[in-house]
Amino acid sequence: MSKTLYVTTPIYYVNAEPHLGHAYTTIAADVLNRFNILSGRETFFVTGTDEHGDKVVRAAEAAGENPKEYADRISMLFRNIWPELSISNDYFIRTTDEDHKKVVQLILQKVYDVGDIYFGEYGGYYCFGCERFYYEKELADGKCPDHKVAPEFIKEKNYFFRMSKYQDWLIEYIKSHPGFIRPERYSNEVLAFLRDPLEDLCISRPKSRLDWGITLPFDRDYVTYVWFDALINYLTAVGYPDSDLYHKFWPSTQHLIAKDILKPHGIYWPTILKASGIEPYHHLNVHGYWNIDKNKISKSLGNIINPLSLKDKYGLDAFRYFLMREMVFGLDANFSESALVNRLNSDLANDLGNLASRSLAMVIKYFKGGLHKPTGYLEIDERLRSDASKMLEDMINQMSRLAFNKALIAIWGFIAAVNKYIDETSPWTLAKKEDQAGRLNAVLYNIVEALRIITVLLFPFMPSTAEKIWTSLGIKGNLHTQRLDDITEWGKIGETTAVSKIEPIFPRVEG
Ligand code: MSP
Repeated sequence: MSKTLYVTTPIYYVNAEPHLGHAYTTIAADVLNRFNILSGRETFFVTGTDEHGDKVVRAAEAAGENPKEYADRISMLFRNIWPELSISNDYFIRTTDEDHKKVVQLILQKVYDVGDIYFGEYGGYYCFGCERFYYEKELADGKCPDHKVAPEFIKEKNYFFRMSKYQDWLIEYIKSHPGFIRPERYSNEVLAFLRDPLEDLCISRPKSRLDWGITLPFDRDYVTYVWFDALINYLTAVGYPDSDLYHKFWPSTQHLIAKDILKPHGIYWPTILKASGIEPYHHLNVHGYWNIDKNKISKSLGNIINPLSLKDKYGLDAFRYFLMREMVFGLDANFSESALVNRLNSDLANDLGNLASRSLAMVIKYFKGGLHKPTGYLEIDERLRSDASKMLEDMINQMSRLAFNKALIAIWGFIAAVNKYIDETSPWTLAKKEDQAGRLNAVLYNIVEALRIITVLLFPFMPSTAEKIWTSLGIKGNLHTQRLDDITEWGKIGETTAVSKIEPIFPRVEG
């Protein structure tokens, strides 16, 4: 098991303000990051903004600003929104950062020096939304399938990266590294694409047409194609080429993206790395789209949803939970506020909220001074303990495949088991019998112990809710420093706990 994790989100274009689609990937990366910390790994988590290219120039013009001012302003919106969504990134990168420009030029020069960049002429259908050329066969009714506008035919002299040279290597690499691109459907999609001859990649734009970019180190009349520039952010952010951070974290790189940018990440990026003499990333994790009525949520389709308004209306943790629980990583999901309200009321207010409040209320009512570690366990208690360890195993396994929804289903299965345990052991009945004080202590101890395990596992998904429950449980120690090892041992809670009352964590919401 690798001791480190380097997790990245796409760097988002500054032509649109942050919306629910960006929030999903960033929250998923955050959950992955926090879960890996919980698993005892040292992690580095990066997000940022992609600021060069036609698209940004056009957006800046429309806003009546110059590209730099415009990029500064929108980049700040991204930078500022992440703390509001409890995102734990270690670094925020901008492609206009000076150190990034140097790394891009370094890589370009390397690839040029090995003879993998040449000058030539190209004509093709160019979609300004995607910032790439399309083959005719990729278009739907002559239009870009994502942006639903007809691309423009452009012909010009440019520099090309000899990507075709790496086609066989890439096919072989994908086949011999299961999970390199995952889930498998996306690996298959890339392999299907690679069945046709791979064309070389145009990696420059003449300054006469576009000067908002990084100048090519070997020709000052050209800037770097925005994708060649953007992908390299993943190296800049860890201090490539010679920082300790790079050596430590690069081998454990996990990129998170949606399927819209599979081709640049699944084909351009590994071949650029190969040509630069750098090991490919460890995993490319690809998720589907959040849709509304079968249309992708996006600025160009005009159906964006502001994550902050959902946070304000329903609370951050309910929003985070919904996103992670509702989408099967890899497949599309439909967004609706009524689905969010249903999840909030059933999973959060009912299952989790009731478990926490009724358990803590009973401990306060019957054991003001705290609980003692039981001297023995009955069969029903053993069953609860074994449910906990099965859940933990399942949850860890699901998280390793980024199956966030199944990881949550595993936790909720255990929440149901604890609620059942409470009903079956009936602490309120035990409380009425004087000779059952020892048993009542044991039952409540087990319930608090189960809640402790649940709380530690919920922390990556719902940090502030987990904090609230943790504080009420009155357990010594900081929730942030808990590790999986702390919850594999039943009874690590110690001899007594001083439990305090908890306000309803998820009040029900009327849909
Ligand atoms: N700048 C490029 C990425 C360069 S990475 C080296 C880019 N930016 S983007 O602003 O368009 O962001 C695309 C990403 O935003 C998607 O890959 C995904 O992570 C997220 N999403 C945007 N809309 C989304 C949905 N409707 N659904 C799910 N994710 C979405 O592409």
